[in-house]
Amino acid sequence: MEHLIDIMQLSTQEIDELVSTATDIIENPAKYAHKCDGRILATLFFEPSTRTRLSFESAMLSLGGKVLGFSSANSSSAAKGESVSDTIRTVSCYSDIIAMRHPKEGAPLVATKRSMVPIINAGDGGHNHPTQTLTDLLTIHKEKGRFDGLTIGLCGDLKTIRRRMGKLDDLTIGLCGDLKFGRTVHSLVAAMSRYENVRFVLISPEELKLPRYVKEQYIKKNNIPYTQSTSLEAVMPELDILYMTRVQRERFFNEEDYLRLKDSYILTPEKLHNAKEDLCILHPLPRVNEISVAVDDDPRACYFKQVQNGKYIRMALILKLLHIN
Ligand code: CP
Repeated sequence: MEHLIDIMQLSTQEIDELVSTATDIIENPAKYAHKCDGRILATLFFEPSTRTRLSFESAMLSLGGKVLGFSSANSSSAAKGESVSDTIRTVSCYSDIIAMRHPKEGAPLVATKRSMVPIINAGDGGHNHPTQTLTDLLTIHKEKGRFDGLTIGLCGDLKTIRRRMGKLDDLTIGLCGDLKFGRTVHSLVAAMSRYENVRFVLISPEELKLPRYVKEQYIKKNNIPYTQSTSLEAVMPELDILYMTRVQRERFFNEEDYLRLKDSYILTPEKLHNAKEDLCILHPLPRVNEISVAVDDDPRACYFKQVQNGKYIRMALILKLLHIN
């Protein structure tokens, strides 16, 4: 694989391998400290970011590499009207790998046509966010699974091995909030639809339901059981994972609709009273109001662990795309 634009470019075996590498990085950071000596990562962010851009940069620095880039379209020649293709062609002369975020769906795919180096989609509009999904999968593995057997015997009967490893399988996942514009949700649904005995609970207001193409292409096509609900409280006891999302103000056409919908779901300690004891609460962040800070001290709140995992899985991905063992 040369570029990562869509999570479905990675097989489940490749995801297992990335999770395995990330786990080894966590346990043996010194082993990886010089793997990218002399290599340069460019982070081209045409849209705001805290976690994705800085975790990519931290990942490359921790691998011994260097970083360059821009954090807003306004500080690049895009502000003068330069095309994505020309920007990418230029930056691929200065770097070995590029992580790119853009407000337009498909822009990173366009970039691959002109790039001389691997392109990583760091979020394109309301479409996809594959490296957030890798972060989510690593976190789910760490919180819900175990890693016995992960690094051995991945050729062969992967279905059985994955079952033994447990627990990307057999999970009920509640996705709550802006399922329409939330690109992290779209990528996570796609990725999780390939595991055994997964069940989705889609919790959103009517106006922010999961797009039909995501439902058809991943959930229905794979006969994944799912239910839809407008009430978080009603479905809370069923959930193994609760994936909260922000209502994506920047994707709304009108401010009135955003203001009406923005506080549709606010997770508080009271709403968790009938949740499972081993519920895992995730959120790609940033949050606005949808998780009260009072939930942060609950041992089930895993969203800041998720932030930390984002760095390690991006280290693993950089190594994979640069073909460094
Ligand atoms: N999860 C995520 O994409 O966060 P940022 O927008 O801060 O990068």
